[in-house]
Amino acid sequence: MFCPALAMREASILFLRACLVLLILPIYILDFVGLWQPFCKGVFFPFFLDKFSAAYEKKAKGQKQELFRSLPDFKSPSGDLNLLEIGTGCGTNFQFYLPGCKITCTDINPSFQQSLLRNMGKNQHLCYERFLVAAGEDLHQVPSGSMDAVVCTLVLCSVQNASSILKEALRVLRPGGAFYFLEHVAADRSTWQLFWQQVLYPTWKLIFGGCCLTKETWKALEEASFSELHLQHTTVMMPWTPIHPHIIGYAVK
Ligand SMILES: C[S@@+](CC[C@H](N)C(=O)[O-])C[C@H]1O[C@@H](n2cnc3c(N)ncnc32)[C@H](O)[C@@H]1O
Repeated sequence: MFCPALAMREASILFLRACLVLLILPIYILDFVGLWQPFCKGVFFPFFLDKFSAAYEKKAKGQKQELFRSLPDFKSPSGDLNLLEIGTGCGTNFQFYLPGCKITCTDINPSFQQSLLRNMGKNQHLCYERFLVAAGEDLHQVPSGSMDAVVCTLVLCSVQNASSILKEALRVLRPGGAFYFLEHVAADRSTWQLFWQQVLYPTWKLIFGGCCLTKETWKALEEASFSELHLQHTTVMMPWTPIHPHIIGYAVK
């Protein structure tokens, strides 16, 4: 049935999207001629992520401390904690891992070296085992059942298929191991926040490395074959951004 309010909303979204396209037309043109993605991946996104991470950490520090408090519970019987991080970026999570933790880092983008090395220098309580340039969807270099914990923060928003990453996480985890997550997600359906997320979605995705503002990532977690899921909806207040709504928690294999 035709709903005038809904049609008005859709029309407003399309109009505002068109305005944004005009506003950043040069970036769309660079993308059209194939120059934007290499520049974004190699220069802009690493620079942006370094600055963004510093601001984000201030807002999310308490939530992350709380999230990773249960990490020691997932040590292997030998007392080690083998942890794989998917989409490590600049390594902002290193500070939350317990001393002696054996870390394997993976990311599709190898351009974060400078900030990654800086964070490794600041966190010498960890054992850095391997750095793999690999997509979370295909971690064939990591043996099945070899990890006690897998961490994925602010990554599932920019992947094509979150379910494939969760499948790989389940494969590399040992039985009883845990998958930790903190992800920004779509706002509630009835809110203005979702309206602005829908307006900004295409432009945001182009500028910020494929990041999708309107993902309902909790659904992929609910559908994955974990034996336990501890998931909470929460808010990380990043002023002037459309990424306030988050999900946080862990799932046990
Ligand atoms: C917003 S950053 C978050 C970095 C870090 N996890 C954090 O919380 O600060 C997203 C990271 O995920 C990486 N990424 C995106 N898609 C990926 C994929 N399919 N597999 C692995 N890493 C991916 C990006 O290269 C980037 O480093």
